[in-house]
Amino acid sequence: MTKNLDFPKKFVWAVATSSYQIEGASDADGKGLSIWDTFTQIPGKIKNGDTGNIACDHYSRWREDIKLMKDLGVDAYRFSIAWSRILPKGNCGLINTKGLDFYESLVDALLEENITPFITLYHWDLPQALYELGGWPERMIVDAFAKYADIVSSRLGDRVKNWITHNEPWVVSTHGYLNGSHAPGHSNWKEALATAHHLMLSHGLAVKAIRSNAPDAKVGITLNLCPAVPASNSHEDHQATRIFDGEFNRWYLDPLFKGRYPADIINNHLKKTRVSENDLDFIKDGDLAVISEPIDFLGLNYYSRAIIRSDEIPDNQNAKPVVLCGEKTDIGWEIHADSLYQLLMRLKNEYPIKSIYITENGAAYNIGPDKNGNISDTKRIHYLKEHLSAVHRAISDGVSLDGYFAWTLMDNFEWAEGYTQKFGLVWMEPETLNRIKKDSFLWYQKTIHDNSILL
Ligand code: FCB
Repeated sequence: MTKNLDFPKKFVWAVATSSYQIEGASDADGKGLSIWDTFTQIPGKIKNGDTGNIACDHYSRWREDIKLMKDLGVDAYRFSIAWSRILPKGNCGLINTKGLDFYESLVDALLEENITPFITLYHWDLPQALYELGGWPERMIVDAFAKYADIVSSRLGDRVKNWITHNEPWVVSTHGYLNGSHAPGHSNWKEALATAHHLMLSHGLAVKAIRSNAPDAKVGITLNLCPAVPASNSHEDHQATRIFDGEFNRWYLDPLFKGRYPADIINNHLKKTRVSENDLDFIKDGDLAVISEPIDFLGLNYYSRAIIRSDEIPDNQNAKPVVLCGEKTDIGWEIHADSLYQLLMRLKNEYPIKSIYITENGAAYNIGPDKNGNISDTKRIHYLKEHLSAVHRAISDGVSLDGYFAWTLMDNFEWAEGYTQKFGLVWMEPETLNRIKKDSFLWYQKTIHDNSILL
């Protein structure tokens, strides 16, 4: 039996990308280096030694990409600004107007096609020059980011009415400064926690800067949240799940919406001697009031859930796991749409959030063209369908969810995975960079057109 799920009339259908993953032109028109330009040069960091030097060459082909979006029928497009295109040396003495001109042309062309721009100010490509001054672990970065937000919003704020300060502070802190798998590749608890704090503090200041330039703008932040379930019913697995949830989710949600850090997680860091009380002195009086500056929306990136097993006791002394991992996408992330629904309900019940956009959701399936040139990525269609059903259910159950941004428009540079993982609705021919629509593109196009999914 088939069934239609209709979405609200004003539901925003959209796609998302980010600067380093698609733009290429890594040194064009006065752009300065970012930490990803340097990190990708280090042997062994990125699969196949890939870099974003060329990526999708969106910097030259953006008109073609807007045409693709027009054809897809999206209402909105989320993209990020490469900070080092605007401020090549990181400081505000030297503003590279060519960088601003590029984004202005993009915005104007989007508006002409009736596609609403959603700008993300920081999607991980910190100017190398600011990294050399200490980067995110140092407090000077907070003002640098606020100034950058001011410069961009004073140029584009008359036209761009939706702003996202940061993308996924958890990833910046954890992959950038704790496990070292992302730029700049550090492994240090104090730096990781200071990074998270400075990201959040700079968010609060940027919200104010953007609003002063664009009083009618809607401003938010994007968090990647990961629902966690204990692998078994043991006390240890439940405890480990609470800690995981605290470090991953509450560490960001609580400061933003409750104006405080979760005490149990601070205690856990101290107990495990990852940091001392003195190390936490980067949290100054008044910071949490800045971080909890009310925002207009939360951007939510959702890909998967986590099944948590305690490492406090040997596995053979722990209870037998009862929750098992289901099917995975090609990148190895479990497909679990119901967790998205549960997460949305939790956000509604536990936090005073005015509005939510799913700012990323999608799947890596690496299937390419068949001998007729068709790309039958039916598994991606299935993934999108299941997750949009979860979104639909959450809306019916009262969550104020205003839109959905599929990740991503086209296959691109997937960070440490290089070009090996393909999340795009559009295939990127490796040699020519020609764009080829996948079946999922056509499916999403119809979904947007009908404002409805057919189950
Ligand atoms: C998110 C990132 C995005 C992309 C997807 C797959 O964590 O924000 O840039 O890499 O994962």
